[in-house]
Amino acid sequence: MIDKKDVTADNIVDFLLELFERRGPESYLGEPVSMADHMEQSAACAAEDGASDALIVASLLHDIGHFIGEFPLDALENGVDNLHEDAGGDILARYYPPEVSEPVRLHVAAKRYLCTVDPNYYGRLSAASVNSFNLQGGKMSAEEVAEFEASPYHKDAVKLRYYDDDGKVADRTIHKIGYYKPLLEQLRKTA
Ligand SMILES: [Fe+2]
Repeated sequence: MIDKKDVTADNIVDFLLELFERRGPESYLGEPVSMADHMEQSAACAAEDGASDALIVASLLHDIGHFIGEFPLDALENGVDNLHEDAGGDILARYYPPEVSEPVRLHVAAKRYLCTVDPNYYGRLSAASVNSFNLQGGKMSAEEVAEFEASPYHKDAVKLRYYDDDGKVADRTIHKIGYYKPLLEQLRKTA
């Protein structure tokens, strides 16, 4: 097992695979899937939708921030709050380009955005997702909508949001993270 203090851009992919193995079976916040199933299903939805490689990897890793304690981040000391989307964005920005990290960072904002601009979207949310939506701040103000739309990654964040919502199907068989290893290697920043 790779100790978190030894994680580098060189071994991040093996570390991620180990992490999915070890923590992936945990249940995903009131949904009928495990954490690993959920992220792997989101990646499958991205691939089926013809998303870019970066967005497939972002989908595969989008909830990694729930495991922030597993990473060698001094984020907590630096005063970064422990919202999972920020934690995930910070972790991924160390090892992957912004096309991967930034849609992850924005995927919760994307839910608030869609609930604000698309009246049909709210009805698609699962019960657990409605619950967290309320905790995450509910609908956006006009300023927040404008700020969100100003990000060059907001469109990918919205796509990731749909893959996230669709990645909660009990007993769906899809590729495990190992299948994506070549892509995870190819996209990572070289040290
Ligand atoms: Fe998710």
